Amino acid sequence: EDGGPNPEKDCGHDRGGMGEEVKRKEDRRFITGRGNYVDDIKKEGMLHCEIVRSPHAHANVESINTERAEKMDEVVAVLTAEDLAAHDLATMPTLMDDTQEVLVRDKVKFQSQEVAAVIATDRYAAKDGAERVEVEYDTLDPVVEAEKAKDEDAPVVREDLDQDDNHIFTWETGDEEATEEAFEEAPVTVEEDMYYQRLHPAPIETCGCVADWDQDDEKMTVHMTSQAPHAHRTLFSMVSGIPENKVRIVSPDVGGGFGNKVPIYPGYVVAAAASYVLERPVKWVEERSENIQTTSFARDYDMTGRIAATEDGEITAVDVDVLADHGAYNAAAQPSKFPAGFFKIFTGSYDIEHAHGTVDAYYTNTAPGGIAYRCSFRVTEAVYLIERMVKALAQELDMDPAEVRRKNFIPKEAFPYESSTGWTYDSGDYERALDKALESVDYDELREEQQRRIANDDDKLLGIGLSTFTEIVGAGPGKQCDIAGVEMFDSAEIRVHPTGNATVRIGVQTQGQGHETTFAQIVAEELGLDVEDVTVEHGDTDTEPYGLGTYASRSTPVGGAATAVAARKVREKAKSIASNELEVAEEDVVWDRQSGAFHVKGAPDRSLTIEEIAGASYMNSPPDEEPGLEAVDYYDPPNMTFPFGAYVCVVEVDRETGEVDIRNFYALDDCGNRINPMIVEGQVHGGVAQGIGTAMLEHVTYDDEGNVTAGDFMNYLLPTSMEIPEIETDYTVTPSPHHPIGAKGVGESPTVGSPPAVVNAVVDAMEHAGVTHVDMPMTPDRVWEVLDDAGLAI
Ligand code: CDP
Repeated sequence: EDGGPNPEKDCGHDRGGMGEEVKRKEDRRFITGRGNYVDDIKKEGMLHCEIVRSPHAHANVESINTERAEKMDEVVAVLTAEDLAAHDLATMPTLMDDTQEVLVRDKVKFQSQEVAAVIATDRYAAKDGAERVEVEYDTLDPVVEAEKAKDEDAPVVREDLDQDDNHIFTWETGDEEATEEAFEEAPVTVEEDMYYQRLHPAPIETCGCVADWDQDDEKMTVHMTSQAPHAHRTLFSMVSGIPENKVRIVSPDVGGGFGNKVPIYPGYVVAAAASYVLERPVKWVEERSENIQTTSFARDYDMTGRIAATEDGEITAVDVDVLADHGAYNAAAQPSKFPAGFFKIFTGSYDIEHAHGTVDAYYTNTAPGGIAYRCSFRVTEAVYLIERMVKALAQELDMDPAEVRRKNFIPKEAFPYESSTGWTYDSGDYERALDKALESVDYDELREEQQRRIANDDDKLLGIGLSTFTEIVGAGPGKQCDIAGVEMFDSAEIRVHPTGNATVRIGVQTQGQGHETTFAQIVAEELGLDVEDVTVEHGDTDTEPYGLGTYASRSTPVGGAATAVAARKVREKAKSIASNELEVAEEDVVWDRQSGAFHVKGAPDRSLTIEEIAGASYMNSPPDEEPGLEAVDYYDPPNMTFPFGAYVCVVEVDRETGEVDIRNFYALDDCGNRINPMIVEGQVHGGVAQGIGTAMLEHVTYDDEGNVTAGDFMNYLLPTSMEIPEIETDYTVTPSPHHPIGAKGVGESPTVGSPPAVVNAVVDAMEHAGVTHVDMPMTPDRVWEVLDDAGLAI
């Protein structure tokens, strides 16, 4: 099952089931401009909210004068922390149990922090009003980098806490003593410093909401760009004191999330409070620069990796120390028991006996964050670390990096495999993936071309970068993983209607991934329905079953599993009805997946489809069976799934300009059984583009005063189609043994796996001159400096 004709496509029917490249149902409304995003929502009497933000990164608020704003005819109200405090809404909890001010009361802790809010009859007036709010600040010295925040005499960011330094936590994993011993005994050790820079997830649609308090019903309805509507309903209820059954969160179409829309931001709380006080709907929608400068960032891990090995390249130990910048509040969005997310997957695809790692996190005067940007909670940083270290080891040993990988892969017979940091990998076949990748790109020929260029003193150097990563996606299990205390299960409810079509309601929330199609495919496969006859609904907490939301590629591993199990429950009931209809014992009724029908054992022509059974279940239900045909499943996964990939990036490095041209990007992904190969391919294209942006362009930078110097798209550079090469996708299929349909997640694999492939390629191009590392983003000036230092520049 490693390529050639698509093995899963042969599902034996054409109803749009598993493995079919069904066109995305949702695209009709998207490409005809009929998507319905938060900013499209207009309500009778709706007001607009604009936030007054601090120009300083660290400053005491001396006074706030709202008079000039309040005098404007269009301004209905100006809110400050005092007003919120009157309703007990001055602070809100972050997902990591920190307390964040909704509007600053005393001290600003990062540039653009929320200080006041103006509510007006239109957006322009609200903005004018915000400019008329006069705030007097007394500026303080800021601390902008984690390295400086460590200093004993560094300014203290969080004087509201019971501590006089900036330390947040120290987290540790693995066996330090055994790892140190392995390092002492190892004939070869390599150390490398690398910085995974601060990134912004940059969804096309910024964050926003329309809050609408209904005084008659005493109910708060919030339409918001949420990746996790149910969790947000619980948090809204907890923060506001409004009973949860009187809070309705609706996520309409969401224009990209990438982790940015998992946390709750002050704007949501302000809009809801304003609606409550004014008894009118209030809309708050961020501008682009507000989104970049204030909503949660990702990464910002300063890492020192060490790797120990034998002379022939067998890795014996890995160790890593991380200095993490969490900004002004600990507002990472991840399961609460994992302060460093899933970073402890840093042994990667390799069978490494000894491992040890620490993460030290600090507050700084920068926006809060540490969210999982298209990544399973710090797995991206972990993958970068190990994939870079394996390359560094190969370089030290003068071995081919493919060989070092092959030598250390967890062998396929070893699954389920327990890693030295305590994960149980479900399944994998890394060598097959690597072999296929090397063959597909003609690796040997590439290596020859590289040598030819060096021998000819060519102006452009060739670099070949590999990344053979493993991911960990699909959080829960609930006992291990929770968000704000709620266990990380997910859910699906299926109703088959009397005329034989179905509505599926799911707890996960699409932001462009195509769930309306793929989740319908799962049901089509399991129930023998045509995919066109299955409608998927999501995003409304009044109607959908409770789920923890979509991020960290958990939809398919958890929500997809719930959907398959719910469908099987429906099928179980259908079987009993079929036996009644066919007048045979239940054990004599068999399900035929190919025809999508039940038939009498040994008599295939005596059959009934789900459509026919649905009719019977409402119109002729058996005496001992409840009428109707529906089921719900809350699925708590027994383990996570471990998708993997083998990526090859080929670059040309211009010795004259430092420019890096990505000539070819090959991405082989194994996400187990694929529901829709076309959608999987689309996910890989998007993720690789984001990974290339990470490697080459993106970085949220600050100056020494804490001013965000890359706070808009002129300075925070996103890749465009000009920078993205043709991406060649490929796959192998290693099903997850514990997932009901053998699927693993895939959405974030390419963002996680591609940055090290690109960096390894650039280093590879220059390693003959002793270059061992280039930090991201690898802008031409940075690469040129490295070329110059190595004597390669011309
Ligand atoms: O949680 P999120 O939807 O971001 O990630 P995912 O579960 O990896 O799914 C991304 C998209 O790819 C969804 O439409 C999935 O149903 C689809 N997918 C698939 O077709 N086959 C897989 N094995 C995994 C995902």
